[in-house]
Amino acid sequence: MQGIKEKIRAIPDYPKPGIMFRDITTLLQDARGFRKTVDEMVQPLAGTRIDKVVGIEARGFILGGAIAHQLSIGFVPVRKRGKLPWKTLSQEYQLEYGTDSMEIHIDAIQPNENILIVDDLIATGGTAEAAIKLIRAHKGNVVGCSFIVDLPELGGRKKLEALGVQVLSLCEFDGH
Ligand code: PRP
Ligand code: MG
Repeated sequence: MQGIKEKIRAIPDYPKPGIMFRDITTLLQDARGFRKTVDEMVQPLAGTRIDKVVGIEARGFILGGAIAHQLSIGFVPVRKRGKLPWKTLSQEYQLEYGTDSMEIHIDAIQPNENILIVDDLIATGGTAEAAIKLIRAHKGNVVGCSFIVDLPELGGRKKLEALGVQVLSLCEFDGH
């Protein structure tokens, strides 16, 4: 079987010239690839108590839901502005141009719950940092952030580690 990294499709110049897009759909559509991905994303945390998975919209939902099911624990969505129906807490984060915000329901995380954050990819780390702040605002403990892909040149891992968060990834790519 090809490894996880080899099953990720590279698409040059998407969504704009100069960007190499890392497309995980080719990994997820492969039954063994999807299973292996979920298994490997949680394996380093065996023995750690995890109470809930927080998945980051949109691609983090695919993985976060599967991981929560695998661990038999609850799933909490962190969504882009205006998508959640109940009362929310918001956290701004930096985009390439300007800012956006991520939101979580105010009753989704309880104090001292151990939380695993899940997303497909970490680049600058801005999105995951917003999720960490939302969880910490509710006094939750972030026990780790698990990604399929890390783009180390963009500094996201270091940013999260500076916040005291353990970062896990299954593979790395150079450049954008
Ligand atoms: C991508 C990716 C991560 C985020 C990483 O999501 O899925 O969530 O960017 O970037 P960062 O580390 O620089 O913050 P995107 O915002 O494109 O949205 P999507 O998942 O809804 O497609
Ligand atoms: Mg995303």
